[in-house]
Parts: sequence; C-alpha cells; structure tokens
Amino acid sequence: MRNLFAATIVDNYATRAGRMVLHALTLTLVSLMLAACGSGGFNENGTEAAATRLSIGKALFNEVTLSASGQQACATCHADETAHADPLGTTLPVGGLTMDQEGFRSSPSLRYLAANAAFQRVRDLAFGGFTWDGRADSLADQPAIPLLDKSEMANENLGAVVARMRKLSYFEDFRRVYDLPSNATDQQIFDALRLALATYQLEDPSFRLFNSKFDRFLDGKVTLTAEESRGLAIFNDATKGNCASCHPSQVGPDGSKPIFTNFSYAALGLPRNPIIKANANPNFYDMGLCGPKRTDLANRQGFCGQFKVPTLRNIAVTAPYFHNASVATLEQAVSFYATRDIDPARWYPVVEGRPDVFNDLPLRLRGNVIQTAPFGLAPGSAPLLSTQDVSDLVAFLRTLTDDNPANR
Ligand code: HEC
Ligand code: HEC
Repeated sequence: MRNLFAATIVDNYATRAGRMVLHALTLTLVSLMLAACGSGGFNENGTEAAATRLSIGKALFNEVTLSASGQQACATCHADETAHADPLGTTLPVGGLTMDQEGFRSSPSLRYLAANAAFQRVRDLAFGGFTWDGRADSLADQPAIPLLDKSEMANENLGAVVARMRKLSYFEDFRRVYDLPSNATDQQIFDALRLALATYQLEDPSFRLFNSKFDRFLDGKVTLTAEESRGLAIFNDATKGNCASCHPSQVGPDGSKPIFTNFSYAALGLPRNPIIKANANPNFYDMGLCGPKRTDLANRQGFCGQFKVPTLRNIAVTAPYFHNASVATLEQAVSFYATRDIDPARWYPVVEGRPDVFNDLPLRLRGNVIQTAPFGLAPGSAPLLSTQDVSDLVAFLRTLTDDNPANR
C-alpha cells in the first residue's frame, strides 16, 4: 500500500514536471524569436539594441559589482562554459568580502531546472525545491541566499544589494523593463532583481539546449557506440545500476526529453571531505534536509543525510561531484556506486581496523543511508557492477554533455 502511494506521488510529480518542461520550451521559443529580432546586446550594425527582460537578467547574472567584494557574480560559481556549475572543477567555491570564505557545498549546474517546483513533503518522502536541501521554493526565491551569504556575495542586507543596483549604468533600463516606478522601494527593486535572475535562467536557451549526443540519439540522428549502449542498458536495469530510478532517462509520454533527475531526495552515505574547513570541527555535520542550512526539518531524523538528486546532464563537465565535493572524477563517482559496500575501505578512513562507513553522518543516523540497488551488498561480495560496467556507465554519461555554444 505504502509503495503504491509513493509511486503515485512520484508519477504525479513526474507528469507535472513534464508539463513544466513544455512551458519552459514555450518560453524558450518566445525568447528565441525575440533574439532573432535583435533585442538585447548588440545588433548587426554594432549599435546597442534595446534592453529586454532577458538581456538585463543576463547582465545581472554576470554582474560582479553586486557582491561585497566587487569580484563575484552568479556566473563566477555558475559558468556557462561548465554548464553553469563551478568553473574551478576541483575545490569548493570561495566568496565573501575578501574572497577567502569557503562554503561547504559544491555549486550545482543550473541547467534543466525549469521542470523543478517548490519543495513538498508527504510523510517521509520529499521532492523539489532549490539548492541541495530544497530550502528555496523557486528560481526567484533562491538568489536571496547567495546575495546575502557571508561566504558568497556577502551583502550585509537587502539595502546593501539595492544600493549596488542603483549604481549600475543600466539601472534605468532595468527599472523600465521590469515596470518599476521611478520611486520604487528597496523591496520592489530587490524583488525585481530576483525575478530578473530567474527570467534569465528560465528563458535563456543555454539553460536547456537538449542537443547532447544522447538527444541526437533519441531523435534518431546518431547511434551510440557499443560501450555507450551497454552503459545505457546498465543505467536503466533495475537489478544492475538502477540509476534511472532516481535519474530518469526515458522520454515522457508527452515527448519531453528526460532530464535525469526526479527531484527526489536520498542519503547516499558519501565520505566526509576532510578538505572542507567546517569539517575540522568533529561535531559539524552537513545533513542536508535536516540542517544546518535548512531548519524546518531539524527534528525529522529520517531526513538526515538526504540531499536532492541532481541532473546528470553535463555531468562530465561539472566536477567535483556530490554535495560535499568528496569525489574528484566521474569515474570515481560511478565507482562509488559500484564499490561503496563491497570495498568500504576504499572510501572511508579505517578506524581501529575497520572502515568508518558513512562517516559524514553522526553514528546514530547512519541507518538512513540507502541500501537498495546498486547498493546493499555485503563487504567482500562479488560486484554487481564490474569494472567494465563502470567504464560503460561513464561512456554513456559522457553522451549527456550539451553541445555548448560557449565552448565552440
Ligand atoms: C560562491 C559561489 C556561488 C555564487 C556567487 C552563487 N552561487 Fe548559486 N550555488 C552555489 C552553491 C554552493 C549552491 C548549493 C547551495 C546549497 O545547497 O545550499 C548553489 C545553488 C544554486 C541554485 C540551486 C540549484 C539547484 O539545483 O537547486 C541556484 C538556482 C543558484 N545557485 C543560482 C545562483 C544565482 C542566481 C546566483 C547569483 C545571485 C548565485 N547562484 C551565486 C554557489 C554559488
Ligand atoms: C536512490 C536514488 C539514486 C540512485 C539509485 C542513483 N543515484 Fe546518483 N545521485 C542521487 C543523489 C541523491 C545524488 C546527490 C547525493 C549527494 O550529493 O549527497 C546523486 C548524485 C549522483 C552523481 C553526482 C552528481 C553531481 O552533480 O555531483 C552522479 C555522477 C550520479 N549520481 C550517478 C549515478 C549513477 C551512475 C547511478 C547508477 C549506478 C546512480 N547515480 C544511482 C540519487 C541516486
């Protein structure tokens, strides 16, 4: 009964997500048409074209003067060249007034998020929301977090952000295209800024190119190599990779392309990352849904350790991996699924002769970690996923990289 209930919620969510993809595609078409008319940026004659909601949103996303350091824009941690994820690729993002404050989560790719919706919880199941713990309800709510976070853009308050807005050379254009009166209040300006950043992410075609090798394969235009096809089969096989159960790979009933996340949550029991400064305190734990960044589910122990399933589109270019950047390469990320339980000493420090499994969670909460396929094998047992399977999976995942105009 419970499983049926859960399945229904997932289905409803998936259908809704599918519809939102269509909505997003419509928006994209509109913006493509606008772009074709030459609005935003410079036109063919080299003269500046009229500002639009989209062009202003893009400018604000790239605007370093909105940070207290004057050195950091949204794009600093979400670069177009790396599918709007962290450009550094190896470490955790830094920010703050003097650009030396380190956060404890990796910057996710911002692509293919249009289908996501506000966080919702039904009993012990959680879906949706933005950030790794879903605490922002929409792309327009989310910007308040980095704009004010001490280890990100580090503005003291809303007023400080708006003071920086008012100094922009294109402030009057911003005010006009976002329908603000000349005597707009700080709150109105801040809200329009949040809307502009969401508009850019929802309407700019770069956030949903759907032009990877896998998309061309779905369109019947190319074939996959033997390795890639085997990887896809393992990815979908519920008794092997079982990856598609959380990272769906099927075309929707309405023809919508898969985005490789169902926006659900799971505790994978990742290794603690010793490079994270906050982890120097042995009592500090980033437990996702149950805190510390999110506070409303702090008492729901079953949620501790759960983080949102990210899209796997562009996964080959968005290193490092997982919420705590504990894994450096894609090969290792897939190997983690294959060997977490059969070879735990490969992933966790050995304490008193035994691997300290799931060491990024307090001992009493380690039972939350997921054990269904591909996990759940006893230490030392034969692998469910062979070394060949892992390299096939990686080959398949590499077909999910957008053909990104920014990289041509
Ligand atoms: C210092 C690096 C940094 C900067 C600057 C930054 N972000 Fe992020 N971004 C992150 C990190 C880290 C996360 C994950 C945060 C978490 O889970 O708490 C994130 C998460 C997000 C998400 C949620 C994605 C998802 O999958 O749910 C969105 C949307 C986003 N950022 C947009 C923005 C926008 C818009 C700006 C500019 C106002 C911005 N970011 C500035 C690092 C940054
Ligand atoms: C039970 C649901 C579930 C299954 C099954 C699953 N994943 Fe994941 N996957 C997640 C969650 C949740 C995360 C984020 C976890 C975190 O960072 O704490 C994730 C993250 C990832 C990442 C890193 C993403 C990033 O942006 O850093 C990769 C790569 C990945 N999964 C690949 C796979 C592959 C390959 C399989 C099959 C072998 C698979 N996943 C099966 C839930 C799942």
